[in-house]
Amino acid sequence: MTNVGIIGSGAIGAGIARLAVAAGHEVTIANSRGPESLTDLVDELGERARAGEVAEAASKGDIVVLAVPLSAYDALPVDALDGKIVLSTGNYYPSRDGRIEVLDSGAATTAEYERSLLPGAVIVKAFNNIVAHHIPSLARPAGAPDRSGLAVAGDDTGAKRAVWELVGTLGFEPVDAGRLAESWRFEPESGAYTAIYAADLETFGKDYLEDEGAPLPPERLRELLAASYRPDVAGRTV
Ligand SMILES: NC(=O)c1ccc[n+]([C@@H]2O[C@H](COP(=O)([O-])OP(=O)(O)OC[C@H]3O[C@@H](n4cnc5c(N)ncnc54)[C@H](OP(=O)(O)O)[C@@H]3O)[C@@H](O)[C@H]2O)c1
Repeated sequence: MTNVGIIGSGAIGAGIARLAVAAGHEVTIANSRGPESLTDLVDELGERARAGEVAEAASKGDIVVLAVPLSAYDALPVDALDGKIVLSTGNYYPSRDGRIEVLDSGAATTAEYERSLLPGAVIVKAFNNIVAHHIPSLARPAGAPDRSGLAVAGDDTGAKRAVWELVGTLGFEPVDAGRLAESWRFEPESGAYTAIYAADLETFGKDYLEDEGAPLPPERLRELLAASYRPDVAGRTV
């Protein structure tokens, strides 16, 4: 059992919370509006979940999942995250987050930029390249023949191992995606972004919410990561 702190209770945060309680982990979840706004979600999640303030989710978690927009990272509690293993699901969308020079120039990956905002936190990147509704639809127990791979990138071996094990219990086969500097391989518009889990690319392209998702074998994900191309972040308009 792992204590999982989750900051962000939207599509990704709530989805990971559901898988975490189903796997027997203890969850403390927080959002920007405070614990009282999470009553329904916590009731749904059951006895292994509680709502907290953001700093509480950060301090209670052995692993802290960040599921907030990138623009919110600089409001996160740096002190409470100091020394914490942080599983970051964040992506850079300039239309939502504003333009960020260090990302547009390619000087840093999103994960490296996040690390600069949260000094002391030990960042591991995962769950940023799968759309939220594909997470529950593709999660499978260990050993299932149709279990999907999920990319995990990080610089700290111990933190990466901990997130690796968590990802495994949540229903995905962890796949080593290298260091944070290489995590562009599964950033938006790269060759290993969300469409890789689509059941039908045409449907996904028209309205990704209509696509039910299809299992992605770990070995195929390894190939996609190896063949990926660095996106033109400065040209990103979404
Ligand atoms: N949706 C996807 O399919 C998807 C896929 C891959 C990666 N991602 C990435 O995952 C991250 C989360 O996406 P999402 O779709 O789950 O977003 P979302 O549904 O919009 O939820 C965002 C959550 O962040 C919380 N939040 C915002 N600012 C905060 C702050 N300063 N302190 C604490 N909580 C704060 C919000 O709180 P309130 O509820 O109080 O507003 C909300 O619960 C983003 O970086 C996104 O790019 C999303």
